[in-house]
Amino acid sequence: MPTPPAPPHWSALPNAPAPGTALLCQRDALPDGQATLWELDTGGGPGAAFKLLLLRDGLVVTAFVNRCAHFGVPLAAKQSQLIFTPRVSITCNVHYMRYRWSDGVCEAGECAGESLVPVPLHIAEDGALRIATSGG
Ligand code: FES
Repeated sequence: MPTPPAPPHWSALPNAPAPGTALLCQRDALPDGQATLWELDTGGGPGAAFKLLLLRDGLVVTAFVNRCAHFGVPLAAKQSQLIFTPRVSITCNVHYMRYRWSDGVCEAGECAGESLVPVPLHIAEDGALRIATSGG
């Protein structure tokens, strides 16, 4: 089986924020065990937000770009369309590729082994989230 292609680096995607950019979000504002769509305004104008998936598991928040490895489109366009099993997986609502919660790797189907694009986060002691300045 061929090695799946590596995902693009988050910083190379359109409207990517600079490292260190604040998400203007506190960890405790995210429901525990839930996936949340988060749009980060990076100054690109209307419709140009950088769209993230924030997966919270207790004190840990994992971020991925809201971009399916299958066709490069959002897994969901709005929160109510987001399909996930808390702390287990998140599923694209276009062709239902399922990604592991922990690392964003696609578990089965045409993009098995490919992964969502991870975005490194820094969580301050007060719970404020920002894009990390290192680690990815
Ligand atoms: S575009 Fe996401 S599963 Fe096909």
